[in-house]
Amino acid sequence: MDSILVKGGGALNGEIPIAGAKNACLTLMPATLLSDEPLTLTNAPRLSDIRTMTELLGSLGAEVTKLQDGQVLAMSSHDLSTHRAEYDIVRKMRASILVLGPLLARHGQAEVSLPGGCAIGARPVDLHLRGLEALGAELELKDGYVHAEARGGLKGAEFEFPFVSVGATENILMAATLAKGTTVLRNAAREPEIVDLAQCLRKMGAQIEGEGTDTITIQGVERLHGATHPVVTDRIELGTYMLAPAITGGTVECLGGRMDLVAAFAEKLDAAGVSVEETARGLKVSRKNGRISGVDVTTEPFPGFPTDLQAQMMALLCTADGVSVLEEKIFENRFMHAPELTRMGAQIEVHGGTATVTGVERLKGAPVMATDLRASVSLILAALAAEGETVVSRVYHLDRGYERVEEKLGACGAHIERISS
Ligand code: UD1
Repeated sequence: MDSILVKGGGALNGEIPIAGAKNACLTLMPATLLSDEPLTLTNAPRLSDIRTMTELLGSLGAEVTKLQDGQVLAMSSHDLSTHRAEYDIVRKMRASILVLGPLLARHGQAEVSLPGGCAIGARPVDLHLRGLEALGAELELKDGYVHAEARGGLKGAEFEFPFVSVGATENILMAATLAKGTTVLRNAAREPEIVDLAQCLRKMGAQIEGEGTDTITIQGVERLHGATHPVVTDRIELGTYMLAPAITGGTVECLGGRMDLVAAFAEKLDAAGVSVEETARGLKVSRKNGRISGVDVTTEPFPGFPTDLQAQMMALLCTADGVSVLEEKIFENRFMHAPELTRMGAQIEVHGGTATVTGVERLKGAPVMATDLRASVSLILAALAAEGETVVSRVYHLDRGYERVEEKLGACGAHIERISS
């Protein structure tokens, strides 16, 4: 298993190109199942989660061809060989459940294993299932699989999500594009990845209104056709690299960064003493002056502060002047990075969904272990600021969501290298 060695302490200066969004790409790829014509995605990130989705679509008989070093994905679902998504692939990644809606909508039936994914809480898929049932699907859970059928096709309906779910909104949105009649989704997720999906589906001929608000209306159509679509910028990768100069000092310009993707996060950075400036090419980030100040953070659905940046923000606040309180409202078990940061000298107390961080002058390098995707990169950020050497092990979590992290940080002067074993 690979690990990453970081020698911390130096300021970072330079430019970091931000890739296409993993989470957008993982929902745009299953959209290929909705049409028998090709769907091409540009600006795709090169990540192991994308390879897992490629493998899953391939197992269903779809063709996914990687072009331009993996930044272009040319997909075709003309002939599918099966509508069963097997446990062996699905278990690797929770986003696999996103094939359920499209398979059901176009083929009238689907069997999808219940997913695995990051160990950050129970994360059931009940909302996905309830939404599809509202569209007329008959569902049965058997042998760890969801067996879904919609004889005669799905039918448009009104469905209100009891709480916001990104994945469930995506699944039902995709399914509703081919349902008969009108679907209205209330309390829908408003994340930029949903907007990106709706824009792509519209290029494929879907009739959708209201994406980016909490009510999305979909008028079902007979069939969808081919399209080419660029994947939106990864706001989580963007936020992560914005934290690099904040934590080490120096100035980094995140190329392709957009303020509207990270507004709530940038507001907290500002309050902590970090300047974020919009430039012609992206966002330029540096510390205003002196030490970072403690700030309180509560995670919320978009446009609130994203749960996927909570671990990285905690790394910054570990060296802030004063006390910061972080409240995690989306996932119940998302402070696994806290004990690892403590190994580096941080002072963190966790009670349920609240972490209280008392800033220390300096973190110290230590051997630490990545526990999930965002936790792993928070350890790397902490290591960049720490005195001495840190070895982060189990970095396969990192590779699921961050392409070429050593290269990107190394180009800004970080002492970081991968140790292969
Ligand atoms: C997506 C993102 C993930 C991000 C999360 C919240 C992808 C591939 N992943 O995950 O990086 O952290 O949004 O922004 O896009 N829930 C249920 N039942 C369901 C569905 C969800 O109880 O059927 C719960 C979850 O356990 C969680 C909350 O709802 O507590 C929000 O989850 P959701 O928005 O669905 O997250 P994902 O789509 O899985």
